[in-house]
Parts: sequence; structure tokens; C-alpha cells
Amino acid sequence: MFEHDILIVGAGLAGLRAAVEGVKNGMNVAVVSKVHPVRSHSNAAQGGINAPLTDRGDDWEGHAYDTIKGSDFLADQDAVEVMSREAGDAVIELERMGVIFTRGEDGKLGTRAFGGQKVARTFFVGAITGSALLHVLYEQSLKLGLNVYEEWFVTKLIIEDGECRGVIAYDMKNGELHTIKAKAVIMASGGNGRVFEPSTQALICTGDGIALAYKAGVPLMDMEMIQYHPTTLARTGILLSEAARGEGAYLLNSNGERFMEKYAPDYMELASRDVVSRSEQTEIDEGRGINGNVHLDLRHLGRDFIEKRLGYLQEVSLEFLGIDMAENPVPVRPGMHYIMGGIKTDINGLTEIPGLYAAGECANVSVHGANRLGANSLLDTVVFGRRSAQHAVEYVKSVSSNSKSENDLKLEKERLQAILDRPKGENIAKVREDMAVNMTKGIGVWRDQKSIEGALENLKNTKKRLPNISVEDKGKFFNTNLIFALELEFMVDNAEAIIHGAITRKESRGANYRTDMPDRDDENWLKHTLVYYDSNNENNVRVETSPVTITKWEPVKRVY
Ligand code: FUM
Repeated sequence: MFEHDILIVGAGLAGLRAAVEGVKNGMNVAVVSKVHPVRSHSNAAQGGINAPLTDRGDDWEGHAYDTIKGSDFLADQDAVEVMSREAGDAVIELERMGVIFTRGEDGKLGTRAFGGQKVARTFFVGAITGSALLHVLYEQSLKLGLNVYEEWFVTKLIIEDGECRGVIAYDMKNGELHTIKAKAVIMASGGNGRVFEPSTQALICTGDGIALAYKAGVPLMDMEMIQYHPTTLARTGILLSEAARGEGAYLLNSNGERFMEKYAPDYMELASRDVVSRSEQTEIDEGRGINGNVHLDLRHLGRDFIEKRLGYLQEVSLEFLGIDMAENPVPVRPGMHYIMGGIKTDINGLTEIPGLYAAGECANVSVHGANRLGANSLLDTVVFGRRSAQHAVEYVKSVSSNSKSENDLKLEKERLQAILDRPKGENIAKVREDMAVNMTKGIGVWRDQKSIEGALENLKNTKKRLPNISVEDKGKFFNTNLIFALELEFMVDNAEAIIHGAITRKESRGANYRTDMPDRDDENWLKHTLVYYDSNNENNVRVETSPVTITKWEPVKRVY
């Protein structure tokens, strides 16, 4: 019998930060993760974590405003205020837990510049910040007594009397399905990058938690807001951190011009990501690209500097393209990187279902609105991971007993067996790739009614193909073939919500740039889109809108 006070789905930064808080407060806490915790995608975060530390003259309001402007005024300002006010403590706390942040010449924690901000307030560990944070949080949570279900895959949330009471999960090591009961569940399962091809996200980023919450009845908010990162490595789609531009790298077109001068004269290469990605794409589309890319030029920074501060980028460039950054510019292009949308929560990570919380990339609090600033995602994970657990700790005290039912388990066993019993049919990888390539075509850096409708048509076709996909491995031990099939179902739910968000929003705002509606329309669209799973509606989807919370920063035209 598996029973806990708090069960956290996902062991990346949001999950492990929540875990530390839960165990510190005397709770019986477990994380369930489909991979070993330090293989979570947070491991891939490179550039750093933002915090406005007052000892260097920065202040929370400056960070909050940059975040809100970056969001194209779609972020809820109460949530941003919370994040900016708590950022300093969150970073200092990480340092005290053992993160060896890079220091400046003066011995203080060092910072680098990041996009959309004039103040250098990004704290970092070389270009491996996510990995450094993840390892420390993992050590800390184990030391404090965290239980870990590693290589377990969650297939369903248990909802009883309208409250979340645990999950059904599949132990990949032996093929057994179990109920894990809990008084509260925190979804911290990361993003859904692989709904698009290519993506900077790991192959495991299939939007599982987003789909689980959606199917349980929680609305997904602003799912159309997909971030294309300006510097992904040509041919591979691998992330080359914004830290390069933060440290002074240039973007050049085929004429050798620093083209950002035309698009963002004040911020240049450090304008917000949506602006830089669109600028690059314009250069490429108008014939000033280099084989579908632009150049990222670091040569003037010098070899020593590159190797000391950006060593990981140099390794990636050498290993995948054989390019020494100190000698040659590197071809890059915009690539899918992050989803600003996700499971709608309040500022304590609580969803519309009591007992169900969400934090990190799977959640939408909403602090990123229509465009996230670089290095605000790590901040989001630790601030709202901690807050979710703090709230869950109090909630758990009011719950008298765990789930009694085994009915979900029985139904899930039958469902999985039916998938395994299918005759030979379509190849999972092929269906997944077709869908993801079409998502990039339809919901790209640019989009319009026709492209979005094209993505919808393609998705309808994918849904028809789903019941025919076959799982060729019928075995019980590490049946990754079955996991791919289950992930694909989750990805389809994510794609559906993204497309319906995009069809609904009739304006251009942040990452949602519609060539057929190029202006921001505050009068009609200073609103969140909410996509609900609703079996009574056509396509099982219902879309609503809700107002954006403005505290003190009225929307103005966004110029960089
Ligand atoms: O460019 C980067 O290092 C990415 C950071 C982020 O997405 O926050």
C-alpha cells in the first residue's frame, strides 16, 4: 500500500523544491517521476535564475515591471509581485543549501545580463545552472527523508468527491500498476516541448501532467503562448543559452550586419525573446539568412572568456557542428523552447480541484503571460514550488482520511491491457512526428487563421490514427513502447488545447504573433484563454476567457 500526505508528480526543480518544503514541515512526502530525478529536464537549464538583490541597488519593482512588459501585459500582476518579492530569498536560500553560484571579482554572487532587462540580475553557475540547482535540491530532499518512486509513470489522477486523492502509476521496472494515495498532489511534471518538432526540450517533455489535470477538469490557461528561443543550434534544435548574448555576443545576418539595430535599437540582442525570434525570422524570410539561420558571433569575447563563462556552449557547438566559437560564428535559428500556458493555478499553486496543485512549467500562475523572460523559469519553479508545498501542508492537516477506492486502478488496468492487446497497426514514432512537425508549421513564430486551422485538421487526423497505434513490445519490463503510446495520448490533449487557445485569441500579443491580425488588442483581448476538457462539447473542448489582474502597471505599447 502506497500512501503519503503529499505526492509530487515530477522531480525537476519545482517538484524537488516543493518536496524540500513538505518534508521540512514534517509531512510524509513522495515524488513520482518517469525518469531518475537528476535526468529531469530542469537539468538542461543553462543561463541562470533572476533575482533583484537589494545589496546591489536592484529592487523587486524593477524586476516585476520588466517581467510584465516582457509578458506583453498578459501576466497577472499579483502573481508577478509575489515572484519578484520572493526572488531574493529564494536565490539566497539555494546558495545556503549548497549551490555554488559563480561569483564576481568582488567575491559577491555574480550576475549576467539577460533579455528584456536593463539590469544584470541573472545569477548563474557557468552555463549549467539548472543542473547545479537540481543536484543540490535532490541531495537536500533525500537528506530530509523524501520518498522517491523513480521510473514510475502516472497514468491518471484519482478524484473523489471533487478532491484529488492520489494517482494511478505504472512501475516501469516490472509493469505493475498501483494506486498511490495522497491527501494532496502537486503536479510538477514540466513542459510539453515535444508536441513540437524541433524543440529544445528533452524527449521526456510530453505534457503528461498538463493532460492529466486537463482530463480531470482543470482549465488550461493561455496555451497558445509558445516561446520560440532565438538561439537554437542549426540542424539540431539544441539550446544555445541566451547567456551568450547576455555576455555580449552579436546576432549577424548574411551581410554581417547586427540586424537587431533595426528592430530593437535600445535593447539590441537582449530584447525579449519573442521580439528577437521574429526579427531573426524576418531576416531569414527576406533572404538575409545563412541557409535558414542567422549567425551568433562570440569571437570578440575571446577564447578565455568563452571557456570560463560559457564553456558548455562551446562544448555543444564543437560536438554537434564542429565549430569553435572562438574562431567562427555559429548558425542559429528560433526554436520551440517553452510553454507560457499551462494548468491554471492561483498564487499558491492551487488549481480548481481541492488537493491538486501545480508548479513550474506545467502550471500557469500566471507570471509569464504572452512571453517569458529568460531566467524567470527557474525562479518560477523555486518560488511557486515552495508556495505550493506550503499551502498543501496546511490543506493536508484538514484532510481526515486517504482514498478508499480501488476502482480507478481496475479501470486503468483494463485500459492499458486494451492498448497492449491491439493488433499490429501504426507506428507510434511516426504518428508523433507527423503531429509535432505540423504543430510547428501551424503554431510557429508566425501564425494566421489558415495555419492554425491546418494544425487543427492535422490533429483531427492524428486523433483518428490514435486507436490504431500498436505497442509491439507486450512485455512487462521497461516497456518503453507502452510509455510512448501513453505519452502520445497526453501530447494530443496538449496539442488540442494549444490549437484551441490559438484559434480563440484574435490578436497578436507576445509569442502569439498573427500575421493576419498584427496588432495587440487590449480592448477585446486583455484576457486569458481557458481551455476545458468537456465531454458534452464538440471535440470535447470548451473555451472561455478570464480577466487579467492589473495591480499598478497599466498596459502600454511594448518597445525595446
Ligand atoms: O537561454 C537560456 O539559458 C534559457 C534560459 C531560460 O529559458 O530561462
